[in-house]
Amino acid sequence: MFKGFSGVWTPVFPAWSIRGVPVATQLAGEPVVLFRDQDGQIGTLIDRCPHRGAALSHGRLTPEGRLECPFHGWQFDRTGNNCHVPLNPDAKRETLSAVALPTRVIGDLVWVFTASGPAPFEPSVPEGLSAPGLARTYVQRTWRCHWTRAMENMLDSPHLPFVHRRSIGKALRQQMTAHSKMEITWEDTDFGGRAKARMDGRDGGAFLEYYKPNLMALHIPIPGKHLRIHALVIPEQNDRTRIIICQSRDFARARPLNLLFSWMNRRIADEDQDVVESSGTNEVPPAQLEKSVATDRATLQFRKYYYSELRESQADQPH
Ligand code: FES
Ligand SMILES: [Fe+2]
Repeated sequence: MFKGFSGVWTPVFPAWSIRGVPVATQLAGEPVVLFRDQDGQIGTLIDRCPHRGAALSHGRLTPEGRLECPFHGWQFDRTGNNCHVPLNPDAKRETLSAVALPTRVIGDLVWVFTASGPAPFEPSVPEGLSAPGLARTYVQRTWRCHWTRAMENMLDSPHLPFVHRRSIGKALRQQMTAHSKMEITWEDTDFGGRAKARMDGRDGGAFLEYYKPNLMALHIPIPGKHLRIHALVIPEQNDRTRIIICQSRDFARARPLNLLFSWMNRRIADEDQDVVESSGTNEVPPAQLEKSVATDRATLQFRKYYYSELRESQADQPH
């Protein structure tokens, strides 16, 4: 299960989007279903009934907040326990569980661990996604590409004056000359790494942080204020990636401004989509198969991590 993306925590959805009906999605090719039980707790199950394999997400939530399989009505709680096997009062329900995945709600987001059984560690969550009291806007897009391509795009600074020449890359574009030089510094951190780009020695104070495996937090410097843009890169299938852009801020909290910020973030994501999809839908190749330069430092760090730690990962299929 979860080949190439197993044993990691990934954000999946804003928690407020899991309400009264089961929500189906895919994580690295594995169908999963999220639902909220009677106590308001969110659970994640592999979206395959252990009986005959029907999609549990096609079933319904019972008044007790259990997920009922549409085929023969077996019922499961959010931890996968079998709570009812209709017409079979003697069934050994303790041996008929569904497969549950560790699930946490942190800030507004649901995080899921891509292997069954207890998670050996907790997710690393950037402050902008976990701290209370921040205003946040969410934009969601689906790109036809392998998630590694989208992730590299989020860590790539030298594309800003080209792809985003009319938006977030406008100032860089205006400062850039034919002789300009961009320097990228990379610092390893316990959660991943921190990259800073300086052009012609100018340091605007912005930097980005990479949270393994699939999250980028861009720190935008405004004196005395918090403004961050996070890109959550969620692998659904080999050639389909869901992107959530979340902006967090501690100013301009009025709700109508959410619309404006959402529009801006959607526009920036859409500027990226075409170039990323045009690079190919398969995973990023090993570094030696492409030509790279000094400004590729951050993306090459990601690629090194992906090829050495994640690509061959695979979780056992529980029985
Ligand atoms: S397939 Fe789910 S109860 Fe039979
Ligand atoms: Fe971009």
